[in-house]
Formats: sequence, C-alpha cells, structure tokens
Amino acid sequence: MQKDKYILITGGAGFIGSHTYVELLNSGYTPVIADDLRNSNRLVLKNLEKITGKTILIAEIDVTDFDKLEKVFEKYNFHGIIHFAAYKAVGESVKEPLKYYENNIGSLVQTLKLAIKFEVESFVFSSSCTVYGAPDDKNEVTEEEVQLLANSPYGQTKIIGELILRDFQKANPNFKMVALRYFNPIGAHPSGLIGEFPIGTPNNLLPYITQTAIGKLNELTVFGDDYNTEDGTCIRDYIHVCDLAKAHVKALEFGEKCENGCLEFINVGTGKGNSVLEIIKQFELLTKLKLNYKIGPRREGDVPAIYANTDKVSGLLNWRTEYTLSDAIEHAWNWEKNLQHEN
Ligand code: WQD
Repeated sequence: MQKDKYILITGGAGFIGSHTYVELLNSGYTPVIADDLRNSNRLVLKNLEKITGKTILIAEIDVTDFDKLEKVFEKYNFHGIIHFAAYKAVGESVKEPLKYYENNIGSLVQTLKLAIKFEVESFVFSSSCTVYGAPDDKNEVTEEEVQLLANSPYGQTKIIGELILRDFQKANPNFKMVALRYFNPIGAHPSGLIGEFPIGTPNNLLPYITQTAIGKLNELTVFGDDYNTEDGTCIRDYIHVCDLAKAHVKALEFGEKCENGCLEFINVGTGKGNSVLEIIKQFELLTKLKLNYKIGPRREGDVPAIYANTDKVSGLLNWRTEYTLSDAIEHAWNWEKNLQHEN
C-alpha cells in the first residue's frame, strides 16, 4: 500500500486552492487544507467532496497563527506544501495596504518556519505577474523582468515574498522551491460545482461580469478606455483556473526531481493577451446576452498591458494549457448560474 503523500495547501479553500485540491487528488497526492474560510464558503468544501468522492481533510485555522498551524504539521507527515494563503485583489490592496502586508507576509513566514521545523522541503509558492510592475512597451514578460517596486501593495507582497524565498533557500539549500507567477486566473471547474466565490462585491473582472449578467449587480464599469492599447482598455493574460491548478502538480513533481534543492520562478499564463472589451464581447457571444456596462475612470494600481512568455513553464514543467478562453468564460457562467440555485 503506497504511503500517503500528504500535501499541505494553505488557503486551499480559495479559488486556486480548491481547484488545485482536485488536481492533487487526481494525481495520487493526499491534500490537507489549512484555511479559515475568510475568502471561501462551506459550499466549496461540500462540493469538493462531491467532485472527488473523498472526505475533505481541513484545519479551519488562520494560517498566520503559528501555534494552530504547528498542530496541523504535528498531525500529518507532510510530503510537500503549496502556499496559497493570501489576499489577492489589486484594487483593494491600494485602499488597505496593511491588511495585505500583515496577512500575505505573515502567513508565508509562519509556514516557512514550520517547514524547517518539520523538514518539509518541497514548497510551491503562489506568486503573481504583479511582480513585473507595469512593463514598458514590450507587454510580454519573461521571468527576468521582475521589478523591485510593484504597482500595488498586493504586488509588493509578492515581490517581498519572492525575496524571502531567495534568502530562505540560500540558508536552507536542500529545499526544493518553485514560485509560480500567475497571470489572470478565470473560469471554474467543468462540473460547475466549484469556482470563484468572491465575498461581497467582486474585485475581479469575470466574476463582476457574470454577477452583472445574472442580475446580482446592476452594471459593470470598465476602468478606463484611454490606455495605449488597440481598443484603449487594459490587456491581461486570462488563464483557466484548472490549467493553473495542474501547473501546481507539475511544480511539485519538478521539485521532487531536484536532488540537491532548487529555487525556480516560473510564469504561468497562456502567452496571449486579451483586452477588457474583448472579454466582454466574448461573454456576450457565448451567452447571447447583452451585458450592461459603461466606461469609467482608470483604477489605481492597474497596469496597461501584460501577458506571459511561457517558454520556461512549458520547458521546465512540461506544462501546456488545455482549456481555451471560451471554455473559461463558459465554465465561469455555468458556475454563476449554479450558484443562483444554491442561494
Ligand atoms: C483585470 C482587468 C481592470 C474589474 C489579477 C488578480 C491578481 C493577480 C493579477 C494573480 C483590469 C478591469 C476589473 C471591473 C474592470 N493574479 N476591470 N472592471 O487587476 O489584473 O489582477 O491578476 O496573482 O491576483 O486580481 O485583475 O480582474 O481585477 O482586472 O474594468 O469591475 O479588468 O481594470 O484592466 P488584475 P482584475
């Protein structure tokens, strides 16, 4: 009987974490969630059990609480850690920077301290394309283009997080560490049973679109159409959340092969950019609905255009996207319609 390969997923009840939970089980790992559900909902836990047919292993704790997190490490002999626990809304972080620094840095430091104490040397960190700040004219970014200053406190917590990993791995060279720099995760599980569960008014574009279309919100505001892009609206690299989740399994498997420890920073995106207006048009095409939106002022912290160079992720992790932009929009809409029956 193969020994359980327990993987701690901090923030595992969140949007990316819950989809990664499913992919870990599909790949033979045993995921354990540590999450106080501040950015999730019990419905996600219930539906994760429906999708996987397995009883969920979860510690409902604040991941910045060292003593509570230590008890989870005492209970399970972890094979690896995927650290998701962080706030992630660019716009919100501009308004509440300390909330982001306290939680995003605090949760990382406590988890790393326990990784040393319990010798859990395989570590995947949820980083972000916001570490690139506002790229100049070349909007496609390779991993070498990290800035020291991000465009938002959220992005700054990811730059600092990566600096912490560099110092940490230098002091603990046996650790196998991969930081995945996400671009714009969108969509939902094809089953329609889990997806993005924004608490309160969504900060991100696609959940705002689906909530407007379903009637929960009255109107979408497009934050600026005077950027130096083809249609004047910002460009982003929208990646299906299930493709992103699978990249985490690949990152763990890559770490397992690093005999003498490693630290890699890897973009995870589609390598293509789409504007806000293009996303709206694609949504209208797919759903045959007319979306109620208006053009408003720019949002503080937004960068005009960014999308991933994906040479490293395809080469090093042997990973490619399996879903299209239309799949992601369709799955997000399915999830929104299913949510309506839940409430
Ligand atoms: C996308 C575009 C907005 C809402 C995200 C994640 C962050 C990080 C980077 C992983 C922007 C526009 C949005 C609205 C709008 N990913 N918009 N009206 O800011 O790129 O950040 O990707 O770490 O975690 O949050 O995503 O969806 O907020 O915005 O016009 O109501 O949509 O201006 O151009 P963002 P977003």
